[in-house]
Amino acid sequence: MQANLRGKHLITLREWTKEEVDTLMDVSFDLKRKFAMGISTRYLEDQTVFLMFFEASTRTRNSMEAGITQLGGHAHFLDTSTMQISHGETPKDTAVILARFGHAIACRICAWEVGNKYIREMAKWSPVPVINMQCDLYHPLQGLADLMTIIEKFGDTKGVNVSIIWAYATSHKKPISVPLSQALLFPRYGMNTTLAYPAGYEMPQWVYDEAEENAKRHGGSFRITHDQNEAYKDADVVIPKNWGNWVTDSKGDTTSHNVLDESLKVWKCTEALMQTVSPRCVYMHALPADRNNEVEDAVIDGKWSVVYDEAENRLHTSKAVMALTMGGRNAYKQ
Ligand code: CP
Repeated sequence: MQANLRGKHLITLREWTKEEVDTLMDVSFDLKRKFAMGISTRYLEDQTVFLMFFEASTRTRNSMEAGITQLGGHAHFLDTSTMQISHGETPKDTAVILARFGHAIACRICAWEVGNKYIREMAKWSPVPVINMQCDLYHPLQGLADLMTIIEKFGDTKGVNVSIIWAYATSHKKPISVPLSQALLFPRYGMNTTLAYPAGYEMPQWVYDEAEENAKRHGGSFRITHDQNEAYKDADVVIPKNWGNWVTDSKGDTTSHNVLDESLKVWKCTEALMQTVSPRCVYMHALPADRNNEVEDAVIDGKWSVVYDEAENRLHTSKAVMALTMGGRNAYKQ
């Protein structure tokens, strides 16, 4: 267990050791138990976290806001379109000023090839922890909630067969940050991880290399398939979710496009496909789900679904991140 995480930025779980992630899990379970029993957890009294959102959110915003309240602190919700960022104020100036006022800065900015760089620039200048609430590459808070949910449902994660599966959607362009974070994290916990997608929805090669390396080191496996039937067969966890394709346009710029190729509509989590999974299989989704495109109601509302437990765990894991990284005289003590 690592008890000295005060001040550490959370931009990607790749920069947190396995022992540090284990500590986050341990504290998440402790906070969940205390929440269930109505035990006060005011470890961050009078502390402020700033929540900067460039994009919409339900779970991330509210788990962070409710979480800091339960820890005895306060959140400022910042719609960045109403900040001086909209007039060109830099991430450096924004971070330095907010850090003078409070104890942590959290940010969601998903624009491709912009988001992660923006958060890293804030972290470079911020003397208080910077928490990534989703960027173009990573969604560490979602990854933690997913890991907690799998631990809850299976106990030992070693040998659990997890399939991260591309799914058709029309709702909005979804970043690659959720499946990318899962593909890197699950092999660190010895899971047999399958990434399934149709041609054109690849992730950067380094993701595959690192996922394989993580699997080798921790005793799991990592494989890629373009056959969704193979991904569903005997899976213990299925996570069918849309992500955008990432292509280089004619000018050489990398941009995101959700090509609405109707032939890909078959990439949907159906009740029929769920007949082929393992008897202990659970269905997960970070939400929001594009119902009846990504998944049939019979599945997301059915016996396999743990999506509301998964969403609830956003609260407990976000609280653990804040309790461990934010400072102050009443900060969380192991
Ligand atoms: N899963 C997730 O990040 O949800 P929100 O977009 O609602 O925050």
